[in-house]
Amino acid sequence: MPSPLADPVKLPCGLVLPNRLSKAAMAEMIAKTNKPNQTLSDAYDQWSQGGWGSILTGNVQVDVNHLGSPFDPALHAEYKGEENLVAQWKHYADACQKHGTPAIVQICHPGRQSFRVAGHRGIWANTIAPSAVPINLGSGLLERFIAALAWTAPREMTRAEVERVISQFVDTARLMADAGFSGVELHGAHGYLIDQFLSGKTNLRTDEYGGTPEKRARFVLEILSQTRKVVPTTFCIGIKLNSADHSSDTFEETMTQIKLLVEAGIDFMEISGGTYEDPKMMGYPTKTETESTTAPVKSERTAAREAFFLEFAKEVRKRHPGLVLMLTGGFRSRAGAESAIRDGACDLVGIGRPAAIDPKFPLLLLDESVEDEKAALQLNKVPPPFYARWLPRNLIGAGAESTYYSGQIQRLAKGLATVAPAL
Ligand SMILES: Cc1cc2nc3c(=O)[nH]c(=O)nc-3n(C[C@H](O)[C@H](O)[C@H](O)COP(=O)(O)O)c2cc1C
Repeated sequence: MPSPLADPVKLPCGLVLPNRLSKAAMAEMIAKTNKPNQTLSDAYDQWSQGGWGSILTGNVQVDVNHLGSPFDPALHAEYKGEENLVAQWKHYADACQKHGTPAIVQICHPGRQSFRVAGHRGIWANTIAPSAVPINLGSGLLERFIAALAWTAPREMTRAEVERVISQFVDTARLMADAGFSGVELHGAHGYLIDQFLSGKTNLRTDEYGGTPEKRARFVLEILSQTRKVVPTTFCIGIKLNSADHSSDTFEETMTQIKLLVEAGIDFMEISGGTYEDPKMMGYPTKTETESTTAPVKSERTAAREAFFLEFAKEVRKRHPGLVLMLTGGFRSRAGAESAIRDGACDLVGIGRPAAIDPKFPLLLLDESVEDEKAALQLNKVPPPFYARWLPRNLIGAGAESTYYSGQIQRLAKGLATVAPAL
């Protein structure tokens, strides 16, 4: 029987993704001068040959003063249509799309999660956020010390700053459209600025950008509507969003915000979860569930349940059957991916870490001559470095995963063989 993973998916803007396997966004840590460079294109050249239905780039920051890592590509100034800038990004877009796979640029502002050392604003300057809520890694002395070392205190954004950041998102999207990318994905997950606005924990504002779930969604809705006005109608605009536990107080609030995004005409929604304070996106659900540092990630689960955020995706699907849903986190096998599609949990399957080890993973999953048992790539957890074992486990575990896999992406870029984490 042909795999449902091989079916094309058409987005509302008209963009057709040739199959359901999406390379998920992964920060590459390659852009040394915060501009796309040849090494970055070389990494994407590998994925462009991999048979993906879509390629999501690692996060591109909308303001070089506020980066997620010191090596993120970013917009350095207001975009005024400069040809040399378009040419620089076009080189990158062409590398991604050389073999016909649509590439979608993830655009982002880290807000309060911008590390001291990340961004051109200087190591003492405050981060910006909807409200001045500092990062909380825990109440212990060590956790507070690490947080103070890693991040400066956030400062509440003025109304003018909110408008400026909205226009930085719009400018970045317009540049990506001019460069020839197929779309953008707004990074509204993982505790970054859009997520900070959406969440009642980090948005305590009492103006028109805070106070109710609807008002907290205004920031992202303005980005979406203003972007639509400046990009071609065929340019896709999606969003990556955090899930919420069904039993949590925030569940219905999140559903209210999703409804607003659907009504505003989002092209697709990627479901993930977690923040720096609670890195669920890497399969580190809580501090207590991370006791084992070497067990294969989720290998004990059935294939049908390998996805981290499956139940939430199903709930969104129930309420919005027409919304194109991508689910990311934990997929390691054809069986797991097919089962999520057949269950109706999602239309697209986002794949992160396996894509950093095998850039041509879809060719394996879509090859009908390969048996189900072999159409998989199980990965061990990355052991934290010995000197970090006394630090908060979930945080260090997620950091070790990111560092390890961005290292593998850098190997890909150099044409070197990648190495899966050893037991
Ligand atoms: C090295 C690395 C970098 C990542 N960078 C990003 C990023 O820039 N944007 C994002 O939304 N998620 C990022 N993620 C999270 C992935 O997109 C994905 O949600 C997560 O890895 C779970 O999927 P997986 O289990 O298939 O790896 C990153 C993950 C890794 C391993």
